[in-house]
Amino acid sequence: MSESRIHNATLRGKIMSADEAAALINPGDNIGVSGFTGSGHPKEVPQALARRIAAASERGETFRVGIFTGASTAPELDGALFKVNGVSMRLPYQSDPDCRNRINSGDALYTDAHLSEVAQNTAWGHYGKLDVALIEIVAILEDGRLVPSTSVGNNPTWLDLADRVILEVNAGLNAKLEGMHDIYSVALPPHRQPIPLIRPDDRIGEPYLRVDPAKVVAVVETDCPDRDTQFSAPDENSRLIAGHILDFLQYEVDKGRIPANLLPLQSGVGNVANAVMAGLNDGPYENLAAYTEVLQDGMLDMIRSGKLVCASATAVSLSKEALVDFNANLGDYRKCIILRPQEVSNHPEIVRRLGIISMNGMLEADIYGNVNSTHVLGSRMMNGLGGSGDFARNAYLSIFMTPSLAKNGMLSCIVPMVSHVDHTEHDVQVLVTEHGLADLRGLAPRQRAKLVIEKCADPKFRPALRDYLARAEKSANGQQTPHMLGEAYDWHLRALKGESM
Ligand code: COA
Repeated sequence: MSESRIHNATLRGKIMSADEAAALINPGDNIGVSGFTGSGHPKEVPQALARRIAAASERGETFRVGIFTGASTAPELDGALFKVNGVSMRLPYQSDPDCRNRINSGDALYTDAHLSEVAQNTAWGHYGKLDVALIEIVAILEDGRLVPSTSVGNNPTWLDLADRVILEVNAGLNAKLEGMHDIYSVALPPHRQPIPLIRPDDRIGEPYLRVDPAKVVAVVETDCPDRDTQFSAPDENSRLIAGHILDFLQYEVDKGRIPANLLPLQSGVGNVANAVMAGLNDGPYENLAAYTEVLQDGMLDMIRSGKLVCASATAVSLSKEALVDFNANLGDYRKCIILRPQEVSNHPEIVRRLGIISMNGMLEADIYGNVNSTHVLGSRMMNGLGGSGDFARNAYLSIFMTPSLAKNGMLSCIVPMVSHVDHTEHDVQVLVTEHGLADLRGLAPRQRAKLVIEKCADPKFRPALRDYLARAEKSANGQQTPHMLGEAYDWHLRALKGESM
């Protein structure tokens, strides 16, 4: 542990242990924590807080807090706090199993929101008062400015709004991260100015976070790596989905609708997203750019091969192997990776301006093109909306992808009517499964339905979908978007009984 990471004398005077810092958090506090997709989250104070909460619970006392994050975190934060049932309210995106179980059992309230909107919603007070900011950083400069960690998320907002600030200074993360960030504050209305970002690699702010030192109540030194995000090699379905998307992008280039180096890419998290990146890495494209939320292994490979010349994101979330390379070559990666606040990385104004190609996963789509990204069989929360809505509505191309079947083939991911809507038919331009790609642009609902069934549904569910559509067209009370309301959810009802859809 090196003290040299804390160069400001005032803040050096506030160094204490994680247990001492956790003691400064009160029952009922709302805490804005750093962290996005398993990177840049505080690692020791949340575990110390969980121990305090568990001890309070043994004494029969109630000790719960509200947790506001950038997005998903890791076992040291969501895992530790949700295991002891210490969280009354959580927002926004999460993916921890303990957190998900508490949400679905009703133990914790969960507010899912577009990631770009969380900062302004907090500033407007929609989530209640922010009491504490608990932020991981890499170093503190002599003048008190903070070197951000592997994610930026909502940290500038938490530091601005919270009454009390606790900093975790993590010597386990590479000090060469300094200079990779671009911190720009988006003003509140009225009379907002345009965000002056015209190209994905524009730098419009400064590389440091700022905090009022008088608000800092604790500085805790840690030495812990980020969680490593495991990726399996792309399976056959991921490769097929990636292949359809790559063919489609080439078709768009040939038609002259997008340039030969494509448009800036946004890619959701997971193995399919990585498979698409692997395909692009092997493809004919040069000088690609990414304007995305999370930088994963696939994009790092593309930077290394020289195909991707710049990547703007709010977090870096890598596997163990990729982290070794990232740390060894951080000086080079810093030249083409920019980490921004999520309010900027996901900002609709920028997404629309840049004309992004957006690719995200989904749970299910219906024949008309509405997409459910979040709720299993209508009620049970999976992860959350993440940034999918920020990008989907505003992208030049908004692509949603999934294998056509789930749960050993019992469930069809193409259904008559989605059981929950995250992205409406108006925001969804392209649907892709391993069977094919449906380009829905410019089509009326009944045209879309035919295409989605024939291109995307698994062959074993196609006859039932065709039958549903044909009967709906005969019996519905209108022909714009024919549905049989008494039957539309029969597929989900069968699944809830444990039967095949
Ligand atoms: N009905 C019920 N369950 C389904 C389903 C469906 N139609 N489709 C998939 N599932 C289940 C899978 O069986 C799997 O369950 P398991 O964890 O118990 O094995 C789980 O959902 C994840 O499915 P998987 O096929 O592994 O997909 P994924 O890892 O690509 O995740 C989402 C898909 C939708 C959950 C994920 O993309 C997501 O959270 N999206 C929303 C946020 C987002 O888009 N973020 C990026 C924006 S920048």
